Amino acid sequence: MKNIYKNSFYNLNKAKKILEKNKIIAVPTETVYGLAGNAYSNKSVKRIYNLKKRPKKNPLIVHYYNLDLLKKDAKYDKNFLKLYKKFSPGPLTYILKKRKNSKISKFANAKLKTIAVRFPKNKAIRSLLKKLSFPLAIPSANISTGVSPTEPLDVVDEFKNKVKFILNGGKSIIGLESTVINLSNKPRILRPGAISNIQIGKILKKKVSNIAGSKLIVSPGMLKRHYSPGIPMKLNSKKADYKAAFIVFGKKYKMKKNMFNLSKNSNLKEAAKNLYKVLRKIKKLKYKKINVVKIPNKNIGIAINDRLKKASK
Ligand code: TXA
Ligand code: MG
Repeated sequence: MKNIYKNSFYNLNKAKKILEKNKIIAVPTETVYGLAGNAYSNKSVKRIYNLKKRPKKNPLIVHYYNLDLLKKDAKYDKNFLKLYKKFSPGPLTYILKKRKNSKISKFANAKLKTIAVRFPKNKAIRSLLKKLSFPLAIPSANISTGVSPTEPLDVVDEFKNKVKFILNGGKSIIGLESTVINLSNKPRILRPGAISNIQIGKILKKKVSNIAGSKLIVSPGMLKRHYSPGIPMKLNSKKADYKAAFIVFGKKYKMKKNMFNLSKNSNLKEAAKNLYKVLRKIKKLKYKKINVVKIPNKNIGIAINDRLKKASK
């Protein structure tokens, strides 16, 4: 595929040059693939919103290599440092207070007083971040409200020739977006992910609640419909409706053509990794309806259920 570039010294320099011109590329992360632009540049950030058709009030996550640049952009406390030490680089996004003299484009955080920051772990994106003198604003590389991509070809699917450079970092090993924790206030999970509120609570030595269940919309990305394949979905189903695709979990199912197993071994991590891939496949096969069995609501299963619920809205 002509727009997909392997992770090499030459290609990283090419990516760097494109970003320095305030243009947009697609990049791998361990959670999902993203669209990346210079977070200090209004022009870059606006281009990201346009490409994604994303509402301007839904802020982006700014991705850093380490704390060097972050220090100038955000304020952080001991809680942040404890979590940073344990979970970063990795699939955890922190909401912090933005510094007044921060260079982050005001469009990146939708003019809020806070910014979301993350330190991704994927090797290719880390090598790229290390070369840059600015952090990258990186939302998931899908048209707004759709399913996130987990490999380069998914990005081609979403944007065709509009994204001319896709850095290949293999398949995303987690497959679901990062956990988002608000640290600008009392620590609270705004979006569940691979790192659970229990794991975070252990490090902070206090109970950290998931916002799920609360009516409050604190994170603009908690918009109701999201992560959607654009097909009606019914959750907690025992069987498939007429002509529907059927997403199952575990080994007790006798598989038929319309059935898609997230994990035969009842492994929730494997199911998380497969979820978006399966949703994309079902969409390509032009099913008009999807049934999904009940998925255990523990560990990363909480994040799977969060995405399924939003996708079914
Ligand atoms: O795993 C991930 O986080 C991926 C990869 C590419 O890093 N990125 C991602 O970005 O999922 P995006 O833009 O699709 O989702 C960002 C989420 C949204 O729900 C957004 O509302 C929330 O983070 N967010 C960003 N800034 C925020 C802020 N200042 N306060 C509250 N929520 C914020
Ligand atoms: Mg997204």
